[in-house]
Amino acid sequence: MKVLVLNGPNLGRLDLRDTSIYGDMDFPALKKFIENAAQECSLETDVRQSDSEVEIIQWLHEAAEKKIPVIINPAAFTHYSYAIRDAAEMLTVPLIEVHLSNPLRREEFRHTSVISGIASGTISGFGPDSYRLALLALVGLLK
Ligand code: DQA
Repeated sequence: MKVLVLNGPNLGRLDLRDTSIYGDMDFPALKKFIENAAQECSLETDVRQSDSEVEIIQWLHEAAEKKIPVIINPAAFTHYSYAIRDAAEMLTVPLIEVHLSNPLRREEFRHTSVISGIASGTISGFGPDSYRLALLALVGLLK
């Protein structure tokens, strides 16, 4: 079973972001971590990152058309992109929202997710393990 793992803006530059919040894995290392975790769950992942809202929407359209389950870290788009929410809402297969940090422990603008309401579930605050836990949850949902 294939899973799309989509990552939003600035996650491609984890190497430049605050390590006290995001840890010290750069994006290539995070990608490898996700691929290894997926292999342990017998899932095949296609891990992508984009800073472009348009590209993420197009990937969600692709997932909706092909019925591919999605794990998405929408990054800052989480908090305001109704367009990504609407695209995600078209999926008829599970979509899990993940975050490296726990946005509820951070600035107030991060306390709103416009994505959570259409996600199967949300996993936040466990660093790279948020993705591993999402893959495990997905295995359960796909049974
Ligand atoms: C994030 C949390 C968002 O608030 C932030 O804009 C990000 C990363 C996370 O993974 O913790 O870019 O989604």
